[in-house]
Amino acid sequence: MTAKVLVLPGDGVGPEICREAVRVLEALNHDHDLDVTLDEAVVGGAAVDAVGDPLPADTLAKAREADAILFGAVGGAKWDKLPREQRPESGLLSLRSELGLFANLRPAMLYPQLAHASTLREDVVSGLDIMIVRELTGGIYFGQPRATRTDVGGRRQAVNTMLYTDEEIERIARVAFDIARQRNGRLCSVDKANVLEVSQLWRDVVNEVGKDYPDVELSHMYVDNAAMQLVRAPKQFDTLVTGNLFGDILSDIAAMLTGSIGMLPSASLDEAGKGLYEPVHGSAPDIAGQGIVNPLATVLSVAMMLRYTLGRGDLAEKVEHAVGHVLDRGLRTRDIMDDEKQVAGTGEIGGAVVDMLQ
Ligand code: IPM
Ligand code: MG
Repeated sequence: MTAKVLVLPGDGVGPEICREAVRVLEALNHDHDLDVTLDEAVVGGAAVDAVGDPLPADTLAKAREADAILFGAVGGAKWDKLPREQRPESGLLSLRSELGLFANLRPAMLYPQLAHASTLREDVVSGLDIMIVRELTGGIYFGQPRATRTDVGGRRQAVNTMLYTDEEIERIARVAFDIARQRNGRLCSVDKANVLEVSQLWRDVVNEVGKDYPDVELSHMYVDNAAMQLVRAPKQFDTLVTGNLFGDILSDIAAMLTGSIGMLPSASLDEAGKGLYEPVHGSAPDIAGQGIVNPLATVLSVAMMLRYTLGRGDLAEKVEHAVGHVLDRGLRTRDIMDDEKQVAGTGEIGGAVVDMLQ
């Protein structure tokens, strides 16, 4: 069956990294019996410039129709002064929410070839392989009320609300338990239950769901401690599950353990397995348009797409092996560079992956 993939390049380095990922999909179509059709649409600042809306109705309609979305990155200084609902980031948040992409999978794994690239000691990070499961369509990102206002005394105040229902917690917990079960069977749920009611409910519901997974070893950790443990002894973790805001923060910490955020893919899935796939790094306006950005996080996002939405774990492995091989050959973009290696541009790295696939 033909699957539809919608490409949303967005801003900054987005178009450059998506170009390489598309080459990979085309190579798989051509040489490996993959059957996807590709379409493209505007999102983020590019869409603000084109039609004045970071998520145009036309783009959302195409996204609803697609089986999978390949997303580049959004944002840039140019649009930072716009009202919140017109900012590029709002396009991404609306897309997540409108499509019900509640389960965000952010693996942080260290390629042995890149162990030196981490700012942490090699013995602390070598062999690192963590999966962060972040709730993506609830919590303080979307809770009501939210407002900036003036109180009766004329003072300015602002409010956001961290709200979770038991159903929202249960469905993300199930995703996380299922993933932990396929990995090393250990799940750590991260919250702030010593202070927040919403976290106590989170902990209670995760414990309840845990009864259905007696084979998974469940533990709980406060978010401040989790942040510390991630940099102290990250290899103690297998699978982590947490809410939207804590997951945003912890996934950046975990990313940096691996040395380069330029290597990390992500998947955002709905209940039926439809997904949006994007690199964890952002639009990096400072290096956009120079052909030097690392395309591998986006290429590895294609691998996640093959595995989680397109049902082609075999091709996902091929892509992951191709990436490993490119690193073995010593090809490096600048973000993962060290002395003896050969500095390569975005297109060269993409081309090397494609060559490996042929
Ligand atoms: C992320 C990003 C987004 C988020 C921004 C761009 C809205 O930081 O995907 O982690 O906060 O979720
Ligand atoms: Mg983030």
